[in-house]
Amino acid sequence: MTGQAVCGFHPTQRVASRRQLILNHKVLLTGGAGYIGSHTAVAMLEAGLIPVLLDDFSNSDPAVLNRLKQLTGHALTCERGDVLDTQFVSDVMRRHQCSAVVHFAGLKAVGESVEQPLRYYRVNVGGLLSVLEAVQPTTCRSIVFSSSATVYGDPATVPIDETFPYAPESPYARSKLMCEDILASLAMSDPSWRVGVLRYFNPVGAHASGLIGEDPSGIPNNLMPFVSQVAVGKREKLRIFGKDYPTADGTGVRDYLHVCDLADGHVAAVKRLLSQGPGFTVNLGTGQGTSVLGVLHAFEKASGRTVAHEFVPRRPGDVAEYFANVSLAESTLGWRASRNIDDMCRDAWNWQQKNPEGYRSETASTACELHAA
Ligand code: NAD
Ligand code: UD1
Repeated sequence: MTGQAVCGFHPTQRVASRRQLILNHKVLLTGGAGYIGSHTAVAMLEAGLIPVLLDDFSNSDPAVLNRLKQLTGHALTCERGDVLDTQFVSDVMRRHQCSAVVHFAGLKAVGESVEQPLRYYRVNVGGLLSVLEAVQPTTCRSIVFSSSATVYGDPATVPIDETFPYAPESPYARSKLMCEDILASLAMSDPSWRVGVLRYFNPVGAHASGLIGEDPSGIPNNLMPFVSQVAVGKREKLRIFGKDYPTADGTGVRDYLHVCDLADGHVAAVKRLLSQGPGFTVNLGTGQGTSVLGVLHAFEKASGRTVAHEFVPRRPGDVAEYFANVSLAESTLGWRASRNIDDMCRDAWNWQQKNPEGYRSETASTACELHAA
């Protein structure tokens, strides 16, 4: 249900006085209560920007707002509603006068997108269109879009740079490319639009405080949350998909990126657009590949626990090796990841230990009051 929410924002001098350049601009974070959005909200505040969250909580828990308050000392503004409701997004834009938008809201499970393509196109592509239609009549002309390295499909070589051909292999991947196309057409039709497309590699980990982190519902699809749940005793063993890939140890290699580094990448992207920089499309990763066994061993080291595992056949659709060339992100945004795989595992483990049931132990009522419109 589209409604209005929530907690008022109380900017403090402490946050604002630390920065000289782009200060106190409001930035709309659609999907801001989710995994990447919540970490980005913290990074924005630290950088002197004011995040305005918009979320329907279809894949997040209002309890995150309470955690964000504990972590930052601020009750963040969060508007509850659906990005597909253009009138609602327009209303949020009008009331908050946001200078930039980061569009995180969407669906992200590759397998589910194969089963429910129409839902994925509706939410991911329709959601972006709705947001753009709501923003178009305002003075805001800066938007950062959450894209994914999955648009490259199975690359011929690594590292992957932004000129690699597209090979989307799922409706999810195609929805991301469609969104990139829509944004490119918009910027072409009206050069006052400044568009930043960020192609994430594999975001993992959690805020070092252990207050916010990834909280997947059901059985996790992704490696790191699964490993965490085995280490904490929620799942019996990790199934390693394939041991015969042409990689050093035979298991799949990925470019894992700490979610706080990713969050900082969004701050750099928004600041570049707000300082009238031209648009860009960049990879966000570390540029380092780590195998499944590499992650497992790093997690065992971080947790001091053994992670039980077995080898099973390859997962359909998986590629052998995948990591980014990040030089364009560095030169364009002045950003580079600073945390390594040990940091990612340490912070993922800290979050998992402190929150074995994710946010579910905390009820919405303790988090924040949510009102229907
Ligand atoms: P997430 O599911 O944790 O966050 C998405 C948020 O959007 C959730 O809070 C959800 O409730 C909200 N949302 C979904 N549909 C909505 C709607 N119709 N209206 C309003 N809110 C809605 O996911 P995340 O991991 O934080 O990912 C954020 C974005 O980054 C997504 O667009 C995803 O496709 C993209 N991305 C994620 C990854 C990853 O590994 N997490 C990798 C590449 C790209
Ligand atoms: C997947 C998505 C990708 C998305 C990314 C988000 C697919 C095909 N791709 O990428 O679009 O952007 O998540 O982070 O779903 N593994 C195991 N056992 C497990 C889980 C994973 O061995 O239980 C292995 C996989 O085979 C892979 C590696 O771990 O080699 C990472 O898997 P995962 O975390 O699912 O990420 P991706 O497959 O890279």
